[in-house]
This record gives sequence, C-alpha cells and structure tokens, in this order.
Amino acid sequence: MKLFEVYPLYEVTPLKAKGLYVYDEKRKKYLDLYGGHAVISIGHSHPYFIRKISRQLRRIGFYSNAIRNPLQTKLASAIGEQSCLHEFELFLCSSGAEAIENALKLSSFHTRRKKVIAFHGAFHGRTSAAVAVTDNAAINAPLNSQHQVTFLSFNDIDALEKELAKETYCAVIFESIQGVGGLDQPNENFVVAMDSLCKKYGTCLIADEVQSGFGRSGTFFAYQKYPITPHIITMAKGMGNGFPIGGILIHPSIKAKFGMLGTTFGGNHLACTASLAVLDILKKNRLQENAKILEIYFRKKADEIPEILKVKGRGLMLGIEFDFEVGELRKSLIYDHQIFTGGSSNKKLIRILPPLTIKEKHFDQFFKALKTVLERN
Ligand SMILES: Cc1ncc(COP(=O)(O)O)c(C=O)c1O
Repeated sequence: MKLFEVYPLYEVTPLKAKGLYVYDEKRKKYLDLYGGHAVISIGHSHPYFIRKISRQLRRIGFYSNAIRNPLQTKLASAIGEQSCLHEFELFLCSSGAEAIENALKLSSFHTRRKKVIAFHGAFHGRTSAAVAVTDNAAINAPLNSQHQVTFLSFNDIDALEKELAKETYCAVIFESIQGVGGLDQPNENFVVAMDSLCKKYGTCLIADEVQSGFGRSGTFFAYQKYPITPHIITMAKGMGNGFPIGGILIHPSIKAKFGMLGTTFGGNHLACTASLAVLDILKKNRLQENAKILEIYFRKKADEIPEILKVKGRGLMLGIEFDFEVGELRKSLIYDHQIFTGGSSNKKLIRILPPLTIKEKHFDQFFKALKTVLERN
C-alpha cells in the first residue's frame, strides 16, 4: 500500500533524537531549530520523560474516560499552578485541531450562537470548524464552508465592535503570536479592547495557544503578556513533547454538562504522564525563563546580519524576514549545514521553533551557517 501523499518531504530520515539534535540513518547529526513544528519543548528523548512514560506504560497505558483517572486531576492542578489560572477547568483531547473544535463548540453551546470571528493570517487546524476559521481557502473543502466565519484584520477595533454589536457571534478566536501565518501579533490596545468587547456583547474569547503555549513565548501562555481573561484557552504541541495530547482551559462562567464534550483517547494515562513530565522539566529547568533569555541573544545575533530585515515573534517562537523567498536558503541549511528550520505562509520568513532547552551555542551554530549561505549567494 502507498501513502496518501499530502506532505512535500525533505529527504531526511531521522531514526534517533536526543536533546537539540536528530540523527539520520547514516548517523548524520541535525540541529533541530524547528522542534517538529514547535512540539519538542523539553528536548528530544529527555531521560526523565522516557522514564516516566515507560513506568506508566508498565502500570496502565490507557483506559477510556468512563473511569476515574487521577492523573487528569494531577495534570489540571499542575497546569493551574504553572499558568496561574487556578479557577479554570480542564478538558483533555489529543491534538490542536481537536482542542479548537471543542473550544468553538463549547462557545456555541454556551452562547447558543453560531457565527465566529477570526483574523487574517490565522491558522487553527484542519478539521471542520478549525479549518473554517483558518485564513486559507486552499485547505477549505466545500464541506467546511458551511461554517459562518467573518475574517477581520488585527488592530481594527471599529470593525470588531461593528460585528460584535450584532450579538450573533459565539466566539472570537485569535493567536497572540500567529504561527503558520508568520509571527504577526495584534497590538496591546486591540487585545485589551477585544477582551472587553467580547464581554460587553456576550461573545466568548478563545486564545489559541496550541503553538505559543506551555512556556514557548516566555510567559506560560502568550496572551498572558496582556491584562485579559479569555473564556477558553486551547493548547497542544509543546504540552506533550511529542506525545499526542491537547486540551482546553475553560473559564468557570461556562458550565459543564454531561455529554457536551467527549473523546476516547483524550486524557489517557500515558498522555497525562507525558504532559506532567513536561511540566516538571519546564519548572525544574526554568525553561520559560530560558525562552526569554535566548530571545534576547537571538535578536542580538540577528542584528549582526544585514540581510535580515526584521526579527518577529517572542521567546522561542521567532521568525527572521528577508527581502527574498527563503525556500532555497532553508534547503541549504538542511542539506549543507544540517539545520532544521520552519517555513510559514510568508515565503520570505524563516521560523525558529527550537526545543526550549536551547543554548547560545546552538544559535551560534545557526548564525554561522546562515552567514555562510548568505555569502555564497
Ligand atoms: C495556532 C495553531 N492552532 C491549531 C493548530 C492545529 O494543531 P494540530 O496540527 O495538532 O491539529 C496549529 C498547528 O500548527 C496551530 O499552529
């Protein structure tokens, strides 16, 4: 049987990974500044992560959500502690898109409305409602277009109020730092206005932290840079360091009812153990702090390269913008210098999404390689 080919692939076959590096079948070593798309938070194959998951697997790996699972309660407390969102409640699922579906569905149950406001450049996933609130017609099938979505621009408070005043929207969904879109951020005035307008007109504010959450931006959630309280926060990627887990945090003003959300795999024993291990290492090794410190170092090094027009993003969710398309540059970084980086819908931007355990020496290696490639062209 052949694979259904939906991914354009790089010719690299990683068979092993450790810390910041992945190794191919010929034991060639690659520096991972992509983190498998912002997923690897505490580093590849972290020994504590392996130990915890292996031990849990020997006890019980999975049971459905029909029984009590104390690991879920433990995870809820640990997320509450590290995010300082003690009053929120947790619902667990298995991916980013599933978190978005559940967030949108919950906002619709809560408000009894069905329209959604999303933003230009947004990416929220590929399932039904998630792809409908994603600003990319090419990945929306006719089936997805049944959702009623209005796309607005960041920072246009008047346009937002005009729509919200209709009182027909269940949710406004936003990324504090756009991932796939290319690291654009709304300004603080707008974010604060969005928060209060949502409250004024009875609309749920959903902060999509699937990519930016779990310490990557230098705060636990990227939106926490601003004085706002969303109704629902979505998370996934870095939450499990590669183990598939996602979830939503729900403000206590939204009440749970039996059956309103559900999943078979979400919150299983192994997934909870993986996320608890991630949180332990985040805290113990102060990785959120490291994200802030390494951002400063990255920006300093980037300033030394005249071809870089702009550094975008925050913490270890960064992008560097050039005045040319970066496809060939990224290929050269992989094939000639063994460095993984990320792309985005902005073709002139390289995304940097490394494990949060990254050190200055890894960025030194990257900038040295980047200079060599730029000089050659
Ligand atoms: C901000 C954001 N939301 C949602 C998703 C969807 O997550 P998943 O690919 O786990 O479904 C992504 C994936 O890149 C994302 O970046």
